[in-house]
Amino acid sequence: MFNLLAQLEPWIRALHIISAMFWMAGMMYLPRLYVYHWQAVKGGEMEKALIGQEQRLLKIIMTPAMISTLIFGLILISFRADQLAVISWLWLKLAAVFALFWLHGSLSQDRKRFAKGERPRSEKHYRLLNEIPAVLIIIIVIMAVVEPF
Ligand code: HEM
Repeated sequence: MFNLLAQLEPWIRALHIISAMFWMAGMMYLPRLYVYHWQAVKGGEMEKALIGQEQRLLKIIMTPAMISTLIFGLILISFRADQLAVISWLWLKLAAVFALFWLHGSLSQDRKRFAKGERPRSEKHYRLLNEIPAVLIIIIVIMAVVEPF
């Protein structure tokens, strides 16, 4: 089984990166939808449309992409299990990835509150939140590709 996985390594790495790209696309788009949601009239057509878009983005794209990024990432880790103690870049990468998991959970919680007609946090909060995934992606990709330490 492990030999077969090892032969498939390039495919697993490609599927890992593709999954991460879909996940990150959603992580950068959802806070933007929340900015528009903050501006929408309560009970209006715009609010109804945004509630639907936010739910589909999270359930159909972001959560499945997060899970497949993790599954393929853990398989890739298994190929370097004997080196885990020495590849420090992976620990900094995983710290940035855990920040993404936290952000995903927070955005998911806020979706439920918006769907109930609430306006959680502030419009400025989501404008700032929009920038965080970009910073984390820069850290993660440099760690994964350059392996600086
Ligand atoms: C969800 C948890 C994640 C785990 C456990 C994980 C783990 C890994 C591992 C072990 C590798 C292989 C490193 C190697 O052998 O060279 C890898 C490669 C990579 N990861 Fe992740 N990763 C995760 C999330 C992410 C995310 C969120 C991104 C992007 C935002 C990402 C981007 C990449 C890239 C671009 C590579 C390819 C590096 C190369 O081919 O040189 N990973 N990942």
